Parts: sequence; structure tokens; C-alpha cells
Amino acid sequence: RNNRRVLEYHSDIERLNAPFLAIYESLIPTEEEKAKQKRLLTSLEKLVNKEWPSARLFLYGSCANSFGVSNSDIDVCLEIEDSDISKSEILLKLADMLHSDNLQNVQALTRARVPIVKLMDPDTGISCDICINNVLAVVNTKLLRDYAQIDARLRQLAFIVKHWAKKRRVNETYQGTLSSYAYVLMCIHFLQTRKPAILPCLQVEMHATYTVTVDDIECAYFDRVEDLRDFGSRNIESIAQLVWAFFDYWAYRHDYANAVISVRTGSIISKRAKDWTRRIGNDRHLICIEDPFEVSHDLGRVVDKHSIKTLREEFERAAHIMQFDPDPCVKLFEPY
Ligand code: CTP
Ligand code: MG
Repeated sequence: RNNRRVLEYHSDIERLNAPFLAIYESLIPTEEEKAKQKRLLTSLEKLVNKEWPSARLFLYGSCANSFGVSNSDIDVCLEIEDSDISKSEILLKLADMLHSDNLQNVQALTRARVPIVKLMDPDTGISCDICINNVLAVVNTKLLRDYAQIDARLRQLAFIVKHWAKKRRVNETYQGTLSSYAYVLMCIHFLQTRKPAILPCLQVEMHATYTVTVDDIECAYFDRVEDLRDFGSRNIESIAQLVWAFFDYWAYRHDYANAVISVRTGSIISKRAKDWTRRIGNDRHLICIEDPFEVSHDLGRVVDKHSIKTLREEFERAAHIMQFDPDPCVKLFEPY
């Protein structure tokens, strides 16, 4: 009897592969959109170089880490040598220049945690945030992109999770839910801990082939990911099984009281080891996601006692739908 139940369950979940893959495919940005983004970046760099000839612009975030869905805003980092002029002054000057160049909705947010200038390019309709010298973000963008090249299931899972999080409105850090960056780390960690593993741990478990030091933080990891293309092939779990197991993990298996997920180590570490057991200031550590490079940074620190409830209820809802709903691909993404 038991065997039969497993079999039924198995074929049942497998029929969801095609619809999940179709959703994933429909979210991939077109080559045309990518080309438009590159053109905008080039024209912004030209403009910036008029004032600061040696400054350079880098794409980071979802348009560069391969986890971007179509019609996303782009994240740009302005790399500029330390000078006497402060970040705020640079941002204000930059906003002035962009405004004179006919870019729309130009706004300098100099007091934000990561100060930025926002703009919209009327020719392409693309919105863009520009930050200054945020080199760590450029480096963690590369880490995510490198992980994505190892096994196709990471990008598929992360697109589906991000899509779900946006539809269910649990991707809003100002409301106490998680950033897209945090969700991608949750997906990487989840695939690192499947048995057999679908993703390796590129940091502590492998020798470094790429090393940079940013703000006193040494970022080092194995980045020759071409050599790891069949790392996950011993695990044959399908995307539907993985989506189910991902939500099941966050709904029922994660030890919220004690555990920290860590992509850096490819394992769970304890809150005690990180000294994340008490509330300090606004950091409550109710769901703990260690940043792979800024290891004192908990990406779950935005979550408060109210939003943790919302989040966990959404994980449970998703797990329940995956388990019992006849048409999970519709129900899962129903707008909140
Ligand atoms: N980032 C970071 N630390 C955070 C949040 C973000 O370093 N706490 C950096 C990461 O490099 C991330 C980028 O900022 O890739 C953009 O963050 P976010 O908007 O959360 O992610 P995107 O990947 O751009 O997702 P979206 O498609 O939703 O814009
Ligand atoms: Mg972004």
C-alpha cells in the first residue's frame, strides 16, 4: 500500500514539471531587453565620464546575477576613486547631470541605507538605481551568477520562488519581508543541502581561484564553475519536486529558533555560534540568513515579530498547495 501511495504521489508531482518550466520560460528576459539595458548602461557611462573620466559603471543585482525576470529595474554601481567629495555630494551632482540629460524621475536618496540616485530612461522605459562604490554587491552578484551556471535547476527554482514572493507580497523589505537577494541565497543553500547535493559549496569547501578584498573583507571562492557542470547530475530531482521540498522545508522543517542558513559553509550553523540569539537594536534574528561575504550581516534582520508570522503562513500556504491542490501552478501565484 505504502509503495502505491509513493508512486501515485510521484507521478502526481511530475505532471507539474511542464507547467513550472513554462512559467520559468515566460519570465526570462528577451535578448532585446538585455541589449536595451546594455545600451542604457553605455550611455550613462558616457555621461558620467564627462564629469569623472576614470569612473566606471557596473551592473549588479538581478540584471547581472542571472536571476532577473523580464521588465525588472536595473541596479548600477558607480565606481569612483575616493576623493574629497562625499558620497552625498557625488549623488547630488550625478542627479543634476542626469536631469539635464533628459532622464526622467531623477531622485537622489542620500539618506537611504544604501544611498542611490533613481532615474527612468524615457527611450527604453527602463528604471534604474545608481549606487556608489558598493563593490561588495558587485562581488556577491558574481557569486550568484557563478552558482547559477553549475546547475540549471537553481535558476528555475529561484525564478519560481521570486515570482511567488512578488505575487504574495513577501518580497518587500520595507514591510519586514525578505529581499530577492535573500530568496536566492535560500535557494542556493537548499540545493547545497539536498542529498545528493545539487550545488557545491564554492567558499570554505573549495580552494579559491578568485580573491578580492573589499572594505577589509576577503571575498574568496572557487569560480571555475565550467569544471562543475555535472556536479548535480547524481541527483535527479525534478523542478516540481524541488519547489515542493523548498516550501516544505521553510514551512515545517527549518529550525527557526536555532538555525542560521549559510551558503558560505554550505550547511546550517547555530545562532549561538553567531551570537544571534538576542535582539540587538532592531535586529531580531527571527529567520537567519548569513550573507556569504559580510558574515555579520543577517539578511533576515528586516523581519519583525509581525512579518515573521506573515512569512511563515505564506510558506505553509505554499507547502499545502503543493501537497494537496489539484492545480498548484495557478493557486500558488494567486495575488495576495
Ligand atoms: N544586496 C546586498 N545586500 C542586501 C540586499 C541586496 O548586497 N541586503 C545587493 C545584491 O548584490 C543584490 C542587489 O543588491 O543582488 C540587488 O538586491 P535586490 O533588489 O534584493 O535583488 P535583485 O536580485 O536585484 O532582485 P529584483 O529582481 O527583485 O530586483
Ligand atoms: Mg534589483
